[in-house]
Amino acid sequence: MVLSKSCLLATALTSLVSIAYGQSSSVSSLEPAATIVPEDSAAGAPLLEGERIQLTEAVVERLEKDKTTAEIADLFAFGTEGTVQKRGSARCKTYPGDARWPADWIWDVFNLLLGGSLIPTVPISAPCYDSQWGRKDPAKCNDIVSRFTKAATHEDHPTSIMWPLFQGRTCMARNDTTPADKCSIGGYPAYAVNVTNVAQIQLAVNFARATNIRLVVKNTGHDYLGKSTGAGSLSIWTHNLKKIEYLPNYKSKSYTGKAFKVGAGVTVQEIYVAAEAQNTTVQGGICESVGFAGGYLQGGGHNPLSGLYGMAADSVLAFQVVLASGQFVTASETSYPDLFWALRGGGPGTYGIVTSVIVKAHPNTDATLSTFVLGNSTDGKQIVSRENFFKGVRKYWELFPTYTDAGTYSFFFIFNRDGQLTLDMKAFFAPGYTKEAFQNLTSSWMQTIQELGIPFQVPQKTNYYPSFFPAYWDAWGKSAFPLGTATSLPGNRLIPKSHWTDPKKLETTWQTLRTHVESGRHFGVYHQSPGNKQNVDNSVSSAWRAAQAFFITASPTFLPNATAAEVRAANDNLHKVILDPWRKITPASEGGGSYLNEAAVDEPNWKEDFYGEQYPRLAQIKKKYDPTGLFYVTTGVGSDAWVVEDGEQGVTTQFGKLCRV
Ligand SMILES: Cc1cc2nc3c(=O)[nH]c(=O)nc-3n(C[C@H](O)[C@H](O)[C@H](O)COP(=O)(O)OP(=O)(O)OC[C@H]3O[C@@H](n4cnc5c(N)ncnc54)[C@H](O)[C@@H]3O)c2cc1C
Ligand SMILES: *[C@@H]1O[C@H](CO)[C@@H](O)[C@H](O)[C@H]1NC(C)=O
Ligand SMILES: *[C@@H]1O[C@H](CO)[C@@H](O)[C@H](O)[C@H]1NC(C)=O
Ligand SMILES: *[C@@H]1O[C@H](CO)[C@@H](O)[C@H](O)[C@H]1NC(C)=O
Ligand SMILES: *[C@@H]1O[C@H](CO)[C@@H](O)[C@H](O)[C@H]1NC(C)=O
Ligand SMILES: *[C@@H]1O[C@H](CO)[C@@H](O)[C@H](O)[C@H]1NC(C)=O
Ligand SMILES: *[C@@H]1O[C@H](CO)[C@@H](O)[C@H](O)[C@H]1NC(C)=O
Repeated sequence: MVLSKSCLLATALTSLVSIAYGQSSSVSSLEPAATIVPEDSAAGAPLLEGERIQLTEAVVERLEKDKTTAEIADLFAFGTEGTVQKRGSARCKTYPGDARWPADWIWDVFNLLLGGSLIPTVPISAPCYDSQWGRKDPAKCNDIVSRFTKAATHEDHPTSIMWPLFQGRTCMARNDTTPADKCSIGGYPAYAVNVTNVAQIQLAVNFARATNIRLVVKNTGHDYLGKSTGAGSLSIWTHNLKKIEYLPNYKSKSYTGKAFKVGAGVTVQEIYVAAEAQNTTVQGGICESVGFAGGYLQGGGHNPLSGLYGMAADSVLAFQVVLASGQFVTASETSYPDLFWALRGGGPGTYGIVTSVIVKAHPNTDATLSTFVLGNSTDGKQIVSRENFFKGVRKYWELFPTYTDAGTYSFFFIFNRDGQLTLDMKAFFAPGYTKEAFQNLTSSWMQTIQELGIPFQVPQKTNYYPSFFPAYWDAWGKSAFPLGTATSLPGNRLIPKSHWTDPKKLETTWQTLRTHVESGRHFGVYHQSPGNKQNVDNSVSSAWRAAQAFFITASPTFLPNATAAEVRAANDNLHKVILDPWRKITPASEGGGSYLNEAAVDEPNWKEDFYGEQYPRLAQIKKKYDPTGLFYVTTGVGSDAWVVEDGEQGVTTQFGKLCRV
């Protein structure tokens, strides 16, 4: 056994490591395990600076020869790509406290080989408590509490995630704590690696594989299912991989034109801004703080330009990837094409760790944006009947195919607050439309609204923008999305086109919608139909290809300190009461499904619903590139071989050991 053999040398190495820390003469023997490779390009584009800094076989040999690292060099050695590696007899991953957990001195060596970028986890809200990390610090605590619902708070932190429920709520951000309140590490990783180069990712991958420690990847921490955390894990924090390169004359086998090479830590807003500066557009999501190359692209990526170009993953030209074996490879149409296929829509954190992506830069576009709120009354006086209000909504619903054929995208809510109905059009986004063309497009709906006498509770504001970014910014960029809370659980459904072309389905869908709204449930919808505009072959789910609308909802709310039983009740309600009627009318067998990136973590038929017809091929690719299950994410392809033993939290969390089922 690697570790027990190494442990014999623990004493000797401890002194060497402490020498390395203390005396400059020995530091050179533990220089970072990395080299600058001679290759300076891949997939027809320059490698980013950090991508040329790699772990190579030669570096591993150096570790084997170096007295300081010889005995543990195999912890950093590459796996054999494509071959099923020996599986340890352990059922569970290795956890802190286990006999096989690496001794502190090994972590110290690892840190030195990483160039000092290993960060032991301190929970973000630790200053709100007396804990192993120190005394309560009210000023720091107030600061964290006041910023907790802002995305940057979590993005800038090595291990914080935006939905504390999945961490197990063991160290909540509250400034009303008493000495009796506890803070523990819960579902946070044990350590994070603050990566700025490929060598660090390779070292972490090899180390986690050799020690059987759970590996997670955190970019922004946005994930709605808790995929970017895991108890006792080693986390790769990609936030600082921030490079963006414009490639004005990019050429690949099947594409010639403008492109961007984007580091894994870049956010949607950062790439939007870069694209605008070159008078181009890229496909990003509506939330500016979501990571671009991480969960968003790998999960498919719906976007306001989907009416022109389809899903964001459809515009990907190449990825640079660290595989489970530790190898650093290019995934493109000509290199590892199966991996390339899987990474474009087959779910994040599953097949490898992406360090950068090359995406098409599309022409800039003008756009018209419209916002308004329709109600049933003005000044508290009811002036339209419930039936007529719904007639107006239905007219819109029936026009979805017309509007998506026209390349537009919308996001709206129907609110039912104490019986008071409103349709809150957050953004009707029409790329390529002048104001006049937009008014013409929507005239038949607006005429119906007028004939039914449905009042605007907030008047319609329709603006024309000569380019994409300012239109996007007004629509979504400047609005803060709710996050940082632990008070509800999301769920969604993709509703196929057949629910508009088949009159019987149209009717049942409408009745389901009506019942949902009348019950006062959370109801948000996008009219969008990405289809396959660029006719690409990738792993974006068949449900997305068939979709005419994307419906989002949430469980009943609960308190941040709700008991597991209370969370369970809300989770059950989400599934049995709220989502079941929608699942019944949109089964995967008829083109329906659910978007894996904004989904309910306990979605029962997740394989079919999240991955559609693509699941079997994805499962093969997963097996080929990650035979030992190094890259586990909840509901990821192949994750059914594993379970997080989190006891009873009321919902699947990452607060527990990851074990084979
Ligand atoms: C407010 C809000 C709005 C949203 N709007 C949209 C939208 O308009 N369109 C849309 O499609 N989605 C949207 N999403 C969903 C979003 O795409 C997902 O939450 C996505 O997982 C975020 O990715 P991230 O990398 O920022 O997050 P993280 O939570 O950091 O990571 C998410 C997943 O990606 C993996 N991952 C991250 N980086 C890498 C990498 N370099 N290599 C391999 N795996 C990696 C992680 O392991 C994890 O599994 C929205 C989410 C929120 C919270
Ligand atoms: C807690 O934080 C909030 C938000 O920053 C602040 O308004 C409040 O005064 C704080 N309460 C205490 C007890 O410090
Ligand atoms: C992460 O690394 C970057 C680059 O070296 C550094 O600037 C930053 O301070 C580090 N962050 C943390 C939290 O250590
Ligand atoms: C920007 O791109 C658009 C669309 O491709 C084009 O019509 C316009 O002339 C360009 N503007 C500038 C300043 O280059
Ligand atoms: C319409 O609005 C009135 C006044 O705000 C409200 O009291 C009533 O419940 C609403 N009626 C319907 C049918 O939605
Ligand atoms: C107005 O819309 C109709 C379709 O509803 C279309 O045929 C026509 O070209 C549009 N006219 C303008 C000026 O956009
Ligand atoms: C939960 O929090 C609420 C206030 O938000 C408080 O009234 C209640 O006592 C708390 N419950 C428990 C079990 O701590």
